[in-house]
Amino acid sequence: MLRSALMNVMLKAARKAARTLKRDFGEIEHLQVSLKGPANFVTAADRRAEQILHEELELARPGYGFLGEEGGMRPGADKTHRWIVDPLDGTMNFLHGIPHFAISIALEREGTIVAGLVYNPANDELFTAERGKGTFLNDQRLRVAARTRLADAVVACALPHPSRGDPELTRKEHAAAQGKVAGLRRFGAASLDLAWVAAGRFDAYWERGLSPWDMAAGIILVREAGGFVSDLEGGDTMLVSGDILAGNESINRDLLRTLKEARRA
Ligand code: IPD
Ligand code: CA
Ligand code: CA
Repeated sequence: MLRSALMNVMLKAARKAARTLKRDFGEIEHLQVSLKGPANFVTAADRRAEQILHEELELARPGYGFLGEEGGMRPGADKTHRWIVDPLDGTMNFLHGIPHFAISIALEREGTIVAGLVYNPANDELFTAERGKGTFLNDQRLRVAARTRLADAVVACALPHPSRGDPELTRKEHAAAQGKVAGLRRFGAASLDLAWVAAGRFDAYWERGLSPWDMAAGIILVREAGGFVSDLEGGDTMLVSGDILAGNESINRDLLRTLKEARRA
């Protein structure tokens, strides 16, 4: 398939970082099962991957800003462009040998996300989107699911650690959603949750308290696949509030209402 120069840059960086992540993923099962050992190892894997992504992207597009989970914001001379990168999304899965994790790269131009890539090195699934050009899984064009009834919907969500966020609110939202949907899922990598909404595997997904690198690429994947993305008030503050809801138009509307009612209960 013919890819744009920009997407080739993103893909080359992702593939290079993926090689080290894959090697490290293979190593993880050989590590001693002491809590500290693997956790430190994963932190190092994470940093290595981000370093590679930064080097590759900077080489191809010198001067763009770079916001990465590990290194924070590195401003560039070009104030109109910014990469938003999670070198390893789904760290807990990675740490436990679960092959569901991803590299997530988005490009923002003057405050708008114009390209996104989410790549799972473990199964070689590559999700890409550019503004106005659609979303692809490898070479195949994607559309969000067409189901319109919550009762038929499989919905991904999050189970935040009780020390994070508002556990009571989480319980209320889960209970309300569980009562209305066909199935609730928690897979543990936000970027892939969004990519899977774009692919129509999940009918919807919501989560609170995310960071921009968890969702920037996933947002454009969903939108370019014909889906809707909002915060949990129906607004557009996802990258600032950290709250996100994604799906097709009707599932989004009904799930938004369900979650709002749950908050008031
Ligand atoms: C996490 C994952 C997870 C989400 C967390 C994120 P990390 O990112 O995306 O699914 O529930 O909020 O922090 O730490 O694995 O990069
Ligand atoms: Ca993440
Ligand atoms: Ca991460």
